[in-house]
Amino acid sequence: MCGIVGYVGARPAVPVLVEGLHRLEYRGYDSAGVAVPRRGRIAVTKVAGRVRDLRDRLDLPGAATTGIGHTRWATHGEPNDRNAHPHLDASGRVAVVHNGIIENAEQLRARLSADGVALASDTDTEALAHLIAASLGDGPLEDAVRTALRHVEGTYGLVVLDRIRPDELVVARNGSPIVLGVGEGEMFVASDVAALVHHTQRVVFLDDGEVATVKAGEYRTSTLDATTTTRTPTTVDLESGSYGLDGHPDFMRKEMAEQPEAVRRALRGRLDTRFATAHLGGLDLDPVALRSVRRVKFLGCGSAYYAGQIGAGLVESLARVPADAEPASEFRYRNPVVDPDTLYVAVSQSGETLDTLAAVQELRRKGGRVMGAVNVVGSAIARECGSGVFLHAGPEISVASTKAVTTMGVSFAMLALLLGRVRDLSAAAGARVVAGLQALPERIEAALALDDEIAGIASRYASARHMFFLGRVSGWPVAREGAQKLKEVSYVHAEAYQAAELKHGPIALIDKDMPSVVIVPDDDIVVKNVSTMEQIRARGGPVIAVTTVDLPAGVADEVVRVPRGEAVLDPLVLGIPLQLLAYHTAAALGRDIDKPRNLAKSVTVE
Ligand code: F6R
Repeated sequence: MCGIVGYVGARPAVPVLVEGLHRLEYRGYDSAGVAVPRRGRIAVTKVAGRVRDLRDRLDLPGAATTGIGHTRWATHGEPNDRNAHPHLDASGRVAVVHNGIIENAEQLRARLSADGVALASDTDTEALAHLIAASLGDGPLEDAVRTALRHVEGTYGLVVLDRIRPDELVVARNGSPIVLGVGEGEMFVASDVAALVHHTQRVVFLDDGEVATVKAGEYRTSTLDATTTTRTPTTVDLESGSYGLDGHPDFMRKEMAEQPEAVRRALRGRLDTRFATAHLGGLDLDPVALRSVRRVKFLGCGSAYYAGQIGAGLVESLARVPADAEPASEFRYRNPVVDPDTLYVAVSQSGETLDTLAAVQELRRKGGRVMGAVNVVGSAIARECGSGVFLHAGPEISVASTKAVTTMGVSFAMLALLLGRVRDLSAAAGARVVAGLQALPERIEAALALDDEIAGIASRYASARHMFFLGRVSGWPVAREGAQKLKEVSYVHAEAYQAAELKHGPIALIDKDMPSVVIVPDDDIVVKNVSTMEQIRARGGPVIAVTTVDLPAGVADEVVRVPRGEAVLDPLVLGIPLQLLAYHTAAALGRDIDKPRNLAKSVTVE
C-alpha cells in the first residue's frame, strides 16, 4: 500500500522517480509526488490523482540527481494535494515519504501544534518531517532520523532528503518494506523491487529496525540503536520483463494468461510419483510431526481467505483432517484459542497484509505452529512464519489477484496430499491426485480458451446491477471468490451464497433482472445444484452455470463447460471462468481494470 522510490546518482533524478512511481502505482493511486534538491531548497511537486497527472506538472528532466517520490493510498487525511507526499518540515529543510501508519500521530501532531508548529496537512507523515528537522544537529542525518523515530509508534518504511546534504538519502524500515538497489555509481531506493529491477538486480532488503544512509556509490546500514549491520546485496532472479505488460492490455489479463505457467512453477520438483505424495521442502515437518497435526486452520484476507477455504476442503477430503478457514482480520482480534495440535497456515500473496501478519504474530506469541503460504519471498509474513511454501506465482501487479489465488489452491492441494499420504489416503488415490495436479496446467489452458464465449456472456449480462454466485461445499468458496472478483473490478454488486441456503430467504430476490452464476463441480451433489438452477429458472431468474460436468439440456441460460479432470481439483479450475467473467464485465463497463476505485495492492493498514 503506497509506493516509495528514491534515487541518488548521476542521472537526472525526476524521470527515474516518475518511471519508478508508474511501476508502483498498483500499490496506491490517490496521489503522487516527488521532491528534489534545487538551488539550496527542496522543490516539491505533488498532486491528487495519478502519476500521469504528476508528470504533466513536472518540468522534465530537471537538473537534480537526487530525489524521492511517492504514490499514495490515503489513510490519514483525504486524497488531495495537501496530503500527498512528500511532506516538508516547517523550514523546508527535510522532505519525507512514508509508507505505514504512525499510531501515535494524533499525540505527535498535538504536541507539535502546542509547540507552535503550523501543520500543513492532515497526515501522520508530516509529523515525521517536523520531528526529524527538530532532531537535526551537527551529526549525520541518520542520527536525527533515529532520534525522531524514538518518539514514533507504528509502522514505517521511509525515505528522508535533507537540503543541506543533497547527495544522500536516509531510509528506515519498521513493518513496511524498503529495498535498496545497487547500481554502478548510482543507488535506488524503493518499497518494492518492481520499481528498480529494470535498473539493477542487485538489491538489499532492509530488516525491521534498520536505518541506512545511501549515497551514489555506497550505502551504510545500522540498527535503530546505531549498531552497524553488514548487508551484502543479493541478486533478484526476476527479469524486469516480468514486471511489464509484454503486449497485454493490462496486468489482470496478463496474469490470468500466465496461470498455466505459474501452476507449473508451483508444482515443479514437488510431486513424488514414486510414493504418490508431495515434497514441500520449506515446511519443516517430518512424517511424525505431520501425523501429529489434528486440525488445519487457514488464515488470510479477501481472496487469500477464500483460497484458504478451498484449501480446507481439500485437506478434509484428502487427509480426513478437520480443517477450516477464517479471515485473519477476525482471528487476530477475538482472543483465539490456540491449539498446539493445529497447523495454522497464513495465506498471503504479498506477505505484507497487516491483518494476516498480526494473526501470525499472535499465533507465535501463543506458541501456535504456523506455516506461510506466501508469494513474495523475503516478505514480512514469510519471515515471521519461518517455514512454509512459496507460491512461485511470479510478480502479481494487478490489484485483483488471479494467478496467486490459483497457486494458493495448488499449494493447498499438495499440502492435503502430503497430510493424506501419511494417513489413510491410499497410494492409488494419491497417484490420481498427483496425475490430476500434473494435468492442471492443461485444464487451466482449456478454461482460458473459453475467453470469447465468456466475453459474450459478460456483454449480455453487464447491465445487471446485482448477481448471485452460488455453490455448495467445494463450489462455495469458488462462488465467493467469483463474486469478489466481479465486485472489485466491475463494481457490479455480487453476493455469494451457499446454494441450498437460497431457498431460506434470498430466493425472494430472484427475478429476471437478477442473474445467478451457479458453480457445479463434478461431485456427489450435482443433482442438488441442478435443482437449485431449476428453482431459479422457475422464478424467471437467468442462470449461468459454470461446470465440469454434462448438465441436462435447458437447465441454464448459459453453460460454461470446463474440461473434466481429477474431480477433487475442480475448485482450482472453476475459478478461471469466473475471473474471465469479472474481467470482461469490467471491460464492457469501461472500468479501469488494473486500478479499481478505492483499492490498492497489499493492504498494510487495519
Ligand atoms: C482480491 C485481492 C484481495 C487480497 C487480500 C489479501 O483480488 O487481491 O482480496 O487477496 O487483500 O492480500 P494478500 O494475499 O497479499 O495477503
